[in-house]
Amino acid sequence: MSVPLRVVVGISGGIAAYKAVGVAREFVLRGHDVHVVATEAALRFVGRPTLEAISRNPVETELFEGVAEVRHVALGQSADLVVVAPATANTIAKLAAGLSDDLLGTTILASTAPLVVAPAMHTEMWQNAATRDNIATLRRRGVHVVGPASGQLTGSDSGPGRMAEPVDIVEAALAALRPRDLVGRRVVVSAGGTREPLDPVRFLGNRSSGRQGVAIAEAARDRGAHVVLVAAHLEVPPPSGIDVRSVGTAEELRAAVLTAAEGADAVVMAAAVADYRPENVSDAKIKKEQQGDELALRLVRNPDILAELSSAPVDGRTVIGFAAETETDDEALLELGRAKIARKGCDYLVVNRVGWSEGFATEGNAVVIVSRGGDIVTRADGTKREVADAILDLLG
Ligand code: CTP
Repeated sequence: MSVPLRVVVGISGGIAAYKAVGVAREFVLRGHDVHVVATEAALRFVGRPTLEAISRNPVETELFEGVAEVRHVALGQSADLVVVAPATANTIAKLAAGLSDDLLGTTILASTAPLVVAPAMHTEMWQNAATRDNIATLRRRGVHVVGPASGQLTGSDSGPGRMAEPVDIVEAALAALRPRDLVGRRVVVSAGGTREPLDPVRFLGNRSSGRQGVAIAEAARDRGAHVVLVAAHLEVPPPSGIDVRSVGTAEELRAAVLTAAEGADAVVMAAAVADYRPENVSDAKIKKEQQGDELALRLVRNPDILAELSSAPVDGRTVIGFAAETETDDEALLELGRAKIARKGCDYLVVNRVGWSEGFATEGNAVVIVSRGGDIVTRADGTKREVADAILDLLG
């Protein structure tokens, strides 16, 4: 878990205010101290008791409450992060003009913390020249704008204007706090799972969803790196703003990684690479009538890309591998990791436990990172994004 932050969640009056409950909740679940500042209009859409229960703090609305403690500036001054979700067209216009006629306005003006806004409104309002100018003004001042997404709006219409999903807003807000310490670096990440064809319609594959690798690529991008993502059958969309190279088999992944690794500062092998592939790939679909009751497959070894990269070290290039193990005992798991890094020769190995219900397609992850000598460098336990940041800290 990262350091607890004092987060002001500002809620303005749009129907998406009901989703702001999810934003507050997501911050609370991640251990942060959440203070909701709602406009009067926001409280017409979502009840104060809900927000107080979820945020575990009183909800502030009134400029003229708590005057003696100068609450209108105290909240802003003490915030580590201010997130306005939803930000209506009206609130965005007020922010752009620097207006402070309510507690949310004064809180924002009194704060020097990163400001994140998640617009939500009808498409026409979002596309209106006034809103566009206001958003451009906010962006120019360094405000982080998350969304809006495109999709079904409150009425029967759809288009851009939906508030981004709470978890995406929280991730983007936390990313806004992170240092851009990888500017100018080239980071290659492999993610997903390779598929080794048996015939034109079948393959040998694995359960990797690509989520951890995608989180690493996204985190590296947010920290300023130029990122190449070598993607093998991802179950999640690749992040925007990075160079994606799609591959299918281990051989294809090898070729793409080795090409991208030239001139890279770091290579992170998060992909689950098939260790074996069918020796022969049938040109036609394998038929039961021809095989009878048994089908024997002969498999041959695939190249070990991580070992290959590590056997030709390049000065200044860090190579990081993963070890996904089903071992249930912590100490034995670590020993497997130590043996694997000794075999592979990479700089760091991220060791995690996988199983029928662990590691794959989940939102969280728990890893131990060992260095080449087998020492534990760090442990990380949290969202895949948090684990990604802990891994990228190795490059700092
Ligand atoms: N890897 C690789 N090339 C392969 C297999 C694995 O580059 N042919 C990389 C993976 O991307 C990962 C690391 O090696 O970073 C460890 O993968 P893992 O499957 O845990 O290790 P293996 O060497 O395959 O060992 P095991 O016998 O435990 O499967």
